Amino acid sequence: MKGVILAGGLGTRLRPLTLITNKHLLPVYNKPMILYPLETLKRSGITDIMIVTGREHAGHFMQFLGSGREFGVKLSYALQDKNNGGIADALRYAEDFSDGGPIAVILGDNIFEQDFAKDVASFNGGAKVFFKAMNDSHRFGVPVFDTAGKRVVKIEEKPKKPKSKFAQTGFYLYDNDIFSIIKTLKPSGRSELEITDANNAYIKKGKLSYGIIKGLWSDAGTFESLLRVAHEVAKRAV
Ligand code: DAU
Repeated sequence: MKGVILAGGLGTRLRPLTLITNKHLLPVYNKPMILYPLETLKRSGITDIMIVTGREHAGHFMQFLGSGREFGVKLSYALQDKNNGGIADALRYAEDFSDGGPIAVILGDNIFEQDFAKDVASFNGGAKVFFKAMNDSHRFGVPVFDTAGKRVVKIEEKPKKPKSKFAQTGFYLYDNDIFSIIKTLKPSGRSELEITDANNAYIKKGKLSYGIIKGLWSDAGTFESLLRVAHEVAKRAV
């Protein structure tokens, strides 16, 4: 399976740092943030990887990562024209790269301890998303379960009153229908094409499955989460 790292967006919550370089090149403990999702894909058996980023500082990625050879992967790059068009908008740019096949998608600011090797190997179509129980699930996409507490009936993006304690993490497996689904999406209240809306389209078709992840997971898009995850990573590295 091929993989895509979404590393666009403006990183406004990390200004002024993100005026100097892209959010995904900022340090998390002892290495640039982008290496964490890259290594998660690699540990999941994925080495043919596209990085989608915005225009600002785009060259910094190529300067640092080059062809990917040094990191044991093969890299391609794409530019997201509207640099805050949303996660689903950024993913559109990987359509040709996907070559009609399934695709693993990871958000560039998501740090996972576990890998997804088994999920990648056993993926057989539709979409698969991954949840983690969190104390602050309102900051994320939050699944709503049926009365039996098993099936996901919808995912709500940053609900004021979350209907479960689970957060939708930033790792997704999709069949190639994702690209036609994205073309049907409309911008949300924050003027973005939301990955949550794409996932809800799979739910409507009865084609979304999910897993619960183990170990450390964090985004690193705010000063607070960036600092916290750096400490967590440091604790595990020693
Ligand atoms: O971290 C998991 C959460 O990520 C999910 O629970 C949410 O459902 C999902 O919408 C997303 O929420 P955020 O609002 O925190 O996403 P953010 O705008 O910070 O974007 C996350 C990454 O996606 C970012 O590091 C780079 C990429 N991205 C984002 C945007 C808006 C792009 O490549 N292009 C974009 O236009």
